[in-house]
Amino acid sequence: MYQVIDGKRISQEIKDELKEKMARLKARGENRCLAVIQVGADPASSVYVNNKKKACEYVGIESLSYGLPEETTEEELLKLIEELNGKGSVSGILVQLPLPGHINEEKILLAISPDKDVDGFHPVNVGNLSIGRPGFVSCTPAGVIQLLKRSGVEIQGKECVVLGRSNIVGKPMAMLLLRENGTVTVCHSRTENLREVTRRADILVVAIGKPKFIDESYVKEGAVVIDVGIHRDENNKLCGDVDFEKAAPHCSAITPVPGGVGPMTIAMLMSNCVG
Ligand code: GUN
Repeated sequence: MYQVIDGKRISQEIKDELKEKMARLKARGENRCLAVIQVGADPASSVYVNNKKKACEYVGIESLSYGLPEETTEEELLKLIEELNGKGSVSGILVQLPLPGHINEEKILLAISPDKDVDGFHPVNVGNLSIGRPGFVSCTPAGVIQLLKRSGVEIQGKECVVLGRSNIVGKPMAMLLLRENGTVTVCHSRTENLREVTRRADILVVAIGKPKFIDESYVKEGAVVIDVGIHRDENNKLCGDVDFEKAAPHCSAITPVPGGVGPMTIAMLMSNCVG
């Protein structure tokens, strides 16, 4: 029988711990304030932004909300970020992605002060992660590590295979597993004999953005499978990059979609905000 890793429960546990920590900080006169910037009104982004604001309220973090029109120029956005960088009362800045096409995303992410970069996307924080220095870590991969640790999955010495090499998930995921003393392989769209590689994995993290791509033929018997994907299937039902029904019976533990990795991203954002 396989264990279903409950991301909803674990994320709640983390938010409750952070709420207590925040109360202790406030008792010492300390505050935290997250500035959330959304450009345009992409419905999915609006849902994420709202959930982030609600989580802030739950944990006891102040939040400032900037809903800017789609036509906002790069210069205007840069000016706002500069202002927030200099504002002592603001401890974290988050620019919701994706940005409209006329704005250079990289330029915007570079403008956020690394010590307020709670998303962990700034090259300074990415670099710090890769050389083992403290800094903000990208929320989704940080959440995967918490899911593993809090489910009693040992990482040290294990064969860890990361499927996907994005800057936001795949690459930081590999660095974090390495930091936990895993033996790490990163696979991607050009990897040859993919099944041969994924079937070596004790821990398989899938972040390729292809609905139900991973079935039992990619999974070693008894592996732990973490599914970072989120999609709608042909019946408009949420599903991941992993075909849960087919893969689960061959796993020792697996994350569901929804209710696996998803809720962890916001919990780790809150963790980055509280510090
Ligand atoms: N869009 C999708 N995921 C994320 C995220 O983690 N952070 C930000 N800023 N935008 C996103």
